[in-house]
Amino acid sequence: MIALAVFLIAVVAVATADRSAILVDEDPAPVVTITTCGGMVNTSSAAINFQLASSIPAGQACLWTVQAPYDAVRFTLKESGLGMGDLKLTQFIHAIQGYQYNVTEIGANYTYSAGTVLVSLVTGAEASSGFSLEMYSSGDLDVAGGGFTHYETFLNSTGATAYPGNGQPYMNNERAVIIVSPSDAGSRTLTFTGMELEQPSGFHCLYDKVKVLSWYVPWGHLVTEEILCRSELPPPIMLDTGLAVILFTSDSSVTRGGFAFNWM
Ligand SMILES: *[C@@H]1O[C@H](CO)[C@@H](O)[C@H](O)[C@H]1NC(C)=O
Ligand SMILES: *[C@@H]1O[C@H](CO)[C@@H](O)[C@H](O)[C@H]1NC(C)=O
Ligand SMILES: *[C@@H]1O[C@H](CO)[C@@H](O)[C@H](O)[C@H]1NC(C)=O
Ligand SMILES: *[C@@H]1O[C@H](CO)[C@@H](O)[C@H](O)[C@H]1NC(C)=O
Repeated sequence: MIALAVFLIAVVAVATADRSAILVDEDPAPVVTITTCGGMVNTSSAAINFQLASSIPAGQACLWTVQAPYDAVRFTLKESGLGMGDLKLTQFIHAIQGYQYNVTEIGANYTYSAGTVLVSLVTGAEASSGFSLEMYSSGDLDVAGGGFTHYETFLNSTGATAYPGNGQPYMNNERAVIIVSPSDAGSRTLTFTGMELEQPSGFHCLYDKVKVLSWYVPWGHLVTEEILCRSELPPPIMLDTGLAVILFTSDSSVTRGGFAFNWM
């Protein structure tokens, strides 16, 4: 009986030990300001001020990723010349799209209880100027989001990249994200120029794979264009808004050279 009581106390102690004792307050003001069309925000708070006082063309598309350290994440819109549905938040834990908000109301709070969160701007005809969106995180350490083996955003109008791109094979159990978010508006074509992944044993891509997602304007979220796992190169992929998310995952065995692509 005494042994059981000691055991129970030990279990309670272990169960509570992984929660940090101190909850962190929000920063009084954003600690960084981001003005680029897309990118990674990996700080406790931030202001995304994009084209605030200047005019913005229809078809401007940008994708920011917010990976805050604490699990209560609050967004608030300070200023906006955007149209309805142009600015959205999408939860993106482990690169899976979750709850989405249309960010339209100045001063309202749009909250999540865990990151990762994507901030997307895809302007329609109503947009006249840009926006200022603030993000604050507080509370306990966020253990849900992140966990990416690689995360990179390209703002280049045109470009080319390879993954891993260091002459070495990729690793087991990878979850790598490459975002193409060209700073200037317009459609692009994404073309794979190299592909060497673990061969699947059947028709489906069960092992290592590259998933290409693009922004589908009528639905207002990312949709899958291709899932690739063979060595054949797919035909060029049209990106209507220019935005693409390339998600690479590998399983626990067999690694190969990786892949390469360009966009223009
Ligand atoms: C965010 O920053 C933390 C701490 O500097 C780092 O460990 C983590 O890898 C970063 N996350 C991403 C997705 O870049
Ligand atoms: C967000 O806005 C889009 C386009 O304006 C609309 O179709 C959609 O229903 C809205 N979603 C929510 C959750 O309000
Ligand atoms: C938004 O959240 C902040 C911080 O918790 C709070 O001070 C403010 O009153 C909230 N605003 C609204 C409109 O709920
Ligand atoms: C993107 O642009 C930067 C700065 O102009 C350049 O250094 C970089 O090599 C470019 N990256 C790609 C992938 O084209």
